[in-house]
Amino acid sequence: MAEEQAVTAAGNEISDTFLAEKKRSDEVLGKLHANPGAYTMLTGDRPTGRLHLGHYFGSIKERVAMQNLGVNTNIIIADYQVITDRDTTEHIGDNVMGLVMDYLAAGIDPNKTMIYTHSAVPAENQLMLPFLSLVSEAELERNPTVKSEMEASGHALTGLLLTYPVHQACDILFCKANVVPIGKDNLPHVQITRTIARRFNKRYAKKHPVFPEPAAILSDAPEIPGLDGRKMSKSYGNSIMLGATAEETAKLIKKSPTDSERRITFDPVNRPQVSALLTTAGLCTGRKPEDIAEEIGEAGAGALKQYVTKVVNDFLAPHRERRAQLEKDPDYVHDVLHDGNKRANEIANQTLDEVREAMGMKY
Ligand code: TRP
Repeated sequence: MAEEQAVTAAGNEISDTFLAEKKRSDEVLGKLHANPGAYTMLTGDRPTGRLHLGHYFGSIKERVAMQNLGVNTNIIIADYQVITDRDTTEHIGDNVMGLVMDYLAAGIDPNKTMIYTHSAVPAENQLMLPFLSLVSEAELERNPTVKSEMEASGHALTGLLLTYPVHQACDILFCKANVVPIGKDNLPHVQITRTIARRFNKRYAKKHPVFPEPAAILSDAPEIPGLDGRKMSKSYGNSIMLGATAEETAKLIKKSPTDSERRITFDPVNRPQVSALLTTAGLCTGRKPEDIAEEIGEAGAGALKQYVTKVVNDFLAPHRERRAQLEKDPDYVHDVLHDGNKRANEIANQTLDEVREAMGMKY
């Protein structure tokens, strides 16, 4: 019983925080549009697989938009985060290259956006030591995302899983990012990042604060469900991969489950599978899912699937073409990452110097 109450209380706390964070996000986004040059964005992905349409609409599109607005944009490929909850780095090289190719194909311009990996930037990782001293074990253990990741992994809590939100603070703060586009599940990590920045400045750098206190940027894009109506996730096999072929996509859509009602209607609660197809088509065409449903009506699920296949493949065709070009030129893709890593090292060395200076550790 007591446990149940605690869970509910934690749930309320999360939704209150979410509303406050969303408000802050909207305010900061307004200011960012007025003065993009004053903002540094950092966000990123774990290289655990390929990107899908959910990633595109949920985050990649927004990164490209910020880059093109003139925000100083940075993307971390969080390779050390891969081993927080699994004991293999199998395919990691391919996954990293796959991410870089999808970013570039989606419109990330390596001359404007720095792309880097954890493992190539020692000074970034070294920030972990002073930062760990600024948080308590209780604060780490309270992180709801870490808790659910531990449960999902079926492993014992590793030291890295417990502390990776602090590592994420290193990612964000080494380049002094003040805006961090993320999904809801990463909110606790941005909050601990702010706490670390505040405590560091207060403890060591009262006169000349070293770190900004970044805002989470929470997207307004509707969450795109997987083809079976559940969350789009690689492990459910319900995801449309950006890099899949048109034929693979057609096959996946064809075998996606629907229901026995002939008439197509948009009703996410009662008809999640049909509605997932409509939402997907809506995002790819900019049309309202309700209008698409109306148009298809009695023609049924077969006609709906044909329509979804066409609009998804049309939407992804230019991306896939650019990606195919990049696949033929792996040296270029490697160069992009090497350049990003080189710049990240310069920035991280500079920040670590400031940190040592503030802490009186310059000998
Ligand atoms: N934790 C993020 C995810 O799994 C990836 C990530 C790592 C990240 N470092 C970051 C996101 C810094 C934002 C900022 O999706």
